[in-house]
Amino acid sequence: MRLNSAQELRKKIDPMKLPKHVAIIMDGNGRWAKKRHLPRTAGHQEGMKRVVEIVEVANKLNIEYLSLYAFSTENWKRPKEEIQGIMKILVQYIRMELERIHKNNIKIQVMGDLKRLPDAPRKEVERAIEKTKNNSKMILNIGLNYGGRDEIVRAVKNILEDIEMGKLKKEDIDKELFSQYLYTHNLPDPDLLIRPSGEIRLSNFMLYQVAYTEFYFCDTYWPDFKEEDFYKAILEYQSRNRRFGGV
Ligand code: IPE
Ligand code: IPE
Ligand code: MG
Repeated sequence: MRLNSAQELRKKIDPMKLPKHVAIIMDGNGRWAKKRHLPRTAGHQEGMKRVVEIVEVANKLNIEYLSLYAFSTENWKRPKEEIQGIMKILVQYIRMELERIHKNNIKIQVMGDLKRLPDAPRKEVERAIEKTKNNSKMILNIGLNYGGRDEIVRAVKNILEDIEMGKLKKEDIDKELFSQYLYTHNLPDPDLLIRPSGEIRLSNFMLYQVAYTEFYFCDTYWPDFKEEDFYKAILEYQSRNRRFGGV
């Protein structure tokens, strides 16, 4: 039987050396649309299809944690129509995919302050979290109104509050305790961070958690990011020598 290129790449992946936690900054939707003389929302719509596929691919590959950056604390600066478009697509995604996600035993979790989201998307997201809360095969962690700096400031405030209430002492604070106050308290740090679209920056993503993460950048726009591209990133990750400051 002839294998297609995705299957060929998949075969090369060492199942014993999989990253436990893969994080993706899904970027390039706007440029993808512009290249085709389409409105930016058309890029977000196509990008949503890639989310559906990559969640499935990651789950089949037995990735335990998948973090997707969908909307940043800075993305509120965008035109109102674009923001509304993104929120509509988020609702559409959950309505379309929640059953399948649940059947696949995937738990949906969100990092970011949901309170700022409009009612409809917030309620859909809360429904998805509630429905999938006991699932255990993979955690799908979605960054919504998420910013790394916001997350750190929020952690500091919550720590101070717990100190004031007598739940915590200053001496208790260390790296591990601090990470317990982040949105990602139940997730290990990402092993691999993928950013498509050609931008070589973090854009406020998981600033505390990526201390020893392997970075993978590629030029593909997110709406063009296919199964093969995901496998390529994993293969590149498997060729890296992680040292964590040791030898
Ligand atoms: C990423 O694509 C999606 C979001 C930030 C919501 P962009 O919309 O940033 O696309 P580009 O970077 O402008 O091409
Ligand atoms: C990061 O992309 C945010 C998401 C992918 C959700 P941006 O497109 O907002 O980042 P910059 O503006 O290029 O740094
Ligand atoms: Mg962008």
